[in-house]
Amino acid sequence: MTEHALSVSRAYDEIAELYADHAGSAFAVDPLHRAMVDVFADMVLSIGGGTVLDAGCGPGHISAHLVRRGLAVVGVDLAPKALVLAREACPSAGFVVGGLEELPLVGGSVAGVLSSYSVIHTSPERLPGVLARMVRVVVGGGYLLVSFQSHEDPAGPVEVFDHRVATAYRYGVEHVLEPLRAAGMVEVARSVLAEREDPRRGFAQAHLLCRKEGPSV
Ligand SMILES: C[S@@+](CC[C@H](N)C(=O)[O-])C[C@H]1O[C@@H](n2cnc3c(N)ncnc32)[C@H](O)[C@@H]1O
Repeated sequence: MTEHALSVSRAYDEIAELYADHAGSAFAVDPLHRAMVDVFADMVLSIGGGTVLDAGCGPGHISAHLVRRGLAVVGVDLAPKALVLAREACPSAGFVVGGLEELPLVGGSVAGVLSSYSVIHTSPERLPGVLARMVRVVVGGGYLLVSFQSHEDPAGPVEVFDHRVATAYRYGVEHVLEPLRAAGMVEVARSVLAEREDPRRGFAQAHLLCRKEGPSV
């Protein structure tokens, strides 16, 4: 594990229970995020369902939602204590300690990948590689949903922001879409919650839904 990965893992483990309470209740009252997760689930179910990866799943509240929607879920995260909570929240899913840089899944093995605010600690240099690894594990015709702090302007700059846990990055939508396109994804839909809706930081919240081009084998 890299020094950076270790620091992210330790930081999330230190606040695991606090974060689980915060993130679980924030998701419950965020209609746009839930709607996009439900669209992702519907799209995956429309191609026959199966297993999806919750990449950077944290305490597993979204994994649990996806299981309730009828999907099988594998969750991967750097933070072991978060995964203890995830196993309690969602006993039927499989949770594995691991990094987005070396996802422990073979290529084309899942019908979809959901990355909910898990690339926010990934630097611009490492982002294309991390996104390409997510794309690699999705079957052709499968889906990827990526959520992150963003700008209303799709070409908005990459900015470092002072996240309470670890250094974090705010990306313009195009910074995320460009490497996804290069890795073989096409955009299906996006939703961007307006900056004024974030009273704390004034950040837009972007949710990008993409489909992998190519045969479903
Ligand atoms: C902001 S939290 C989001 C957690 C959850 N997905 C949610 O929506 O509440 C970021 C999560 O991503 C994980 N994470 C960040 N970078 C990671 C990496 N390189 N590999 C695996 N997990 C990572 C962290 O450990 C943390 O649990």
